[in-house]
Amino acid sequence: MLKADHWQSQIYIKGFAGKINSISPDFDKLEAQAIQKMDPKAAGYIVGGAGRQETVANNRSGFASFKIVPRMLRNVEQSDTSATLFGQNFASPFWLCPIGVLEMVHPEADLAVARAAAETGIPYVFSNQSSVPMETCANAMGTAPHFFQLYWSKNRDLVASFVQRAEACGCAGIVLTLDTTLLGWRTMDLDAAYLPFMEGKGIAQYTSDPVFQKMLDAKMQDPNGTPPRPSLSWDLIKGLIKSVNRYPGGSFVQKLRSGRPMAAVQLFVQTYSNPALTWDDLAFLREHTKLPILLKGILHPDDARKALDYGMNGLVVSNHGGRQVDGSISAIEALPDVVAAVDQRVPVIIDSGIRSGADVFKALALGASAVGLGRPYVYGLTLDGQSGVFQVLRHLMTDFELTMRLAGCKSVAEINRECLM
Ligand code: FNR
Repeated sequence: MLKADHWQSQIYIKGFAGKINSISPDFDKLEAQAIQKMDPKAAGYIVGGAGRQETVANNRSGFASFKIVPRMLRNVEQSDTSATLFGQNFASPFWLCPIGVLEMVHPEADLAVARAAAETGIPYVFSNQSSVPMETCANAMGTAPHFFQLYWSKNRDLVASFVQRAEACGCAGIVLTLDTTLLGWRTMDLDAAYLPFMEGKGIAQYTSDPVFQKMLDAKMQDPNGTPPRPSLSWDLIKGLIKSVNRYPGGSFVQKLRSGRPMAAVQLFVQTYSNPALTWDDLAFLREHTKLPILLKGILHPDDARKALDYGMNGLVVSNHGGRQVDGSISAIEALPDVVAAVDQRVPVIIDSGIRSGADVFKALALGASAVGLGRPYVYGLTLDGQSGVFQVLRHLMTDFELTMRLAGCKSVAEINRECLM
């Protein structure tokens, strides 16, 4: 992997030869260009947050409230950005957040992200709502690190099956997302009356799952199993064609005749999340995997302490990028109390609002073990597939390394609360 200053000087040298990178290092420009390229419904789904978008805004203003105080004359010629998580050493203190339904922005979707992650050595958390089955992505990543993110469905056998598959395809841990047992009030999606899952997008982990297929068999045999059909319209027909095309195996006509693609969407909608979940359910997960379990969506120090009482192995401080509870505390504001509660017993990862090397630096200074990158890589994917994701990651890795060294730190271990005011 290139050192930061090499990637930076490459950009200038290529520019001198008249070649400009396809991905801007300026986040606002990157976001604007990606939005312009996206279908408006996809843009609403990806960029939008819950309600009045206050949490999305808090995630940024939270970072702005902390300032870095650079220190001088500390010999930062050599530097080391590596970080250790669960006994594995990674080149950078990042991971790629689980983000569902990536086929909305690029046909290679999760596969392009998996390949870019493997190129950089950054771990990738496969989403429960991915567009590509976890085994395919894991295969593409070879020995590069990957995790699996789980949404706890209403069917425990399905939960167990997902976890078993994650173990079998070499995932380094299970990231259980707790903040989405119900879908948030996402005004942009509601305005467009659009949910990608209705078109059969983002359900590849389900349609590739043996337990889900058995549930589908049972549903197909149940005369009361299918809800009333809405009246036919051109848009409905287009949606049906898309969901049939997306469903794995068989010809279009075979799949259409079988009725399974439409039934799979209905079954998914009926089962995908479980608002009845409680702390005691975690024992089931613990029984079904030896992998480290991380809880994603922790914002209160009492929940952090409770997670440790229940034997969890890591936490992700996150508000889901502002897509669930509007008016919520930002992740970066929540981080210090969670870190204090955990007292270095397990890794604490943070996401929601990370847009620059400075943000990464601030999160580490407040005690995070690593940070999760979300929307920025989706924008890179939108604009230039695997290469777009790779460039976004290289920009951020470089920005972080330069920030760290210019602030007077040679390694991640030297970044602490004293670096901020
Ligand atoms: C997400 N996120 C998410 N989280 C999760 O656990 N499973 C998922 O499938 C998804 N899907 C998803 C889709 C989209 C379009 C977005 C924007 C986010 C949340 C994600 O993992 C992470 O918490 C946020 O993206 C962090 O916020 P920023 O930094 O991207 O704003």
